[in-house]
Amino acid sequence: MTIQTSLGDIFKTYGSERPIFKEKETLSIKFTPENTPHREKQLKQVALILAPLLRNDKPSNIFIYGKTGSGKTLVVRSVVDNLLGTINKGNIPVKIFYINCKMKKITDTEYRLLAQLVSNFGEEVPYTGLPTSEVYKRFYELLDKENQNVVLVLDEIDALVKKIGDGILYNLTRINQDLEKTKLTLIGISNDLSFIDELDPRVRSSLSEEEIIFPPYNANELRDILTERANLAFNPGVISSKVVAKCSALAAQEHGDARRALDLIRIAGEIAERKDSKKVEEIHVDMAESKLDTDRILEILRTQPKQSQVVFKAILQSHKKGNTNIQTGDVYDLYTNICAKNNLNPLTQRRVSDLIAELDMFGIINAKVLSKGRYGRTKRIKVNLPKSLVENIEGSILREFY
Ligand SMILES: Nc1ncnc2c1ncn2[C@@H]1O[C@H](COP(=O)(O)OP(=O)(O)OP(=O)(O)O)[C@@H](O)[C@H]1O
Ligand SMILES: [Mg+2]
Repeated sequence: MTIQTSLGDIFKTYGSERPIFKEKETLSIKFTPENTPHREKQLKQVALILAPLLRNDKPSNIFIYGKTGSGKTLVVRSVVDNLLGTINKGNIPVKIFYINCKMKKITDTEYRLLAQLVSNFGEEVPYTGLPTSEVYKRFYELLDKENQNVVLVLDEIDALVKKIGDGILYNLTRINQDLEKTKLTLIGISNDLSFIDELDPRVRSSLSEEEIIFPPYNANELRDILTERANLAFNPGVISSKVVAKCSALAAQEHGDARRALDLIRIAGEIAERKDSKKVEEIHVDMAESKLDTDRILEILRTQPKQSQVVFKAILQSHKKGNTNIQTGDVYDLYTNICAKNNLNPLTQRRVSDLIAELDMFGIINAKVLSKGRYGRTKRIKVNLPKSLVENIEGSILREFY
């Protein structure tokens, strides 16, 4: 068979039918499911707090928190969409703006955030150039132009505060004192549980007039969520309840993360499809899990500062020499060698030790603190990554270092 005909076969089977997936998009993060099992309570809470909007009253500010993948964004977006339906039908003067604070450009500076808010009112301010106070004034004028309720959802609000501090939140939570016609309500969402404690106490108390907690899902709850989504996404007979249960159990291991459960089942489906399997088997889920872990580690390493990558390279050098008792001192010697070859200024041993602790925290290495009696403390470092992943890292991320 020539290459052309065998390629033709691949495209033919691929194009003619999709035996595994019926509608894969329903597993994507962009898809909003109609049902949100195990979040009835939170949906109701958010809806009840926002309901006064329908009578032109100002609702309380809300602070929502819970770990990643616990359905926070989904619940808020579902309530908002539903509410907007009623609001538009009844011509009620309410505007609801949603901003994801992790988005680059929009929330990198106070100026940009205010410019975005202005553009939500359909007006534009230049991308840069005006004094921030001028953009703030513009926002304020637009806000107070007519009698209305404005709700501002700040998703991943911790990212905003990390980038530009909590001054802007202070201003936004105080703004109602000055507004004459409009009432502004804030909804803050965060998966960083310590975030609220670090806020200015005045911001904290106004932002969290109402607090809603999203507990992590357990394996059974994830199974219900996943079963509904899998029925939409896969063709009949492709997915067994055993496979769904396995994805749910794996995703519940760290904390019940629905995003991870959905990723697992989607990738398992893609692997089954590539292997020309008619069904998604448990082994495909195992492979999906290892792919997700690999991708996570590659992503973390890729976004680490150069110095940290060099520290990791030093650890790998020692590991590959067969050293089963790698200690901070060994790593430091190798590290300074690599720095010298690559024209990098070496950090102090203490800083390198911090970087080692960070790699440990990310789960890329295992470091155990050993006491060396009066000689102080050191760490015993282990690398538990599959060989193929190590080769992948060396061939990509670490390739730029000699
Ligand atoms: N109860 C549920 N029913 C159906 N799908 C759900 C449910 N909870 C979460 N999901 C799905 O899981 C994924 C993650 O949910 P969501 O984005 O709401 O998490 P989050 O709590 O906002 O996480 P993060 O803090 O990382 O932003 C989404 O694809 C969402 O559709
Ligand atoms: Mg979210």
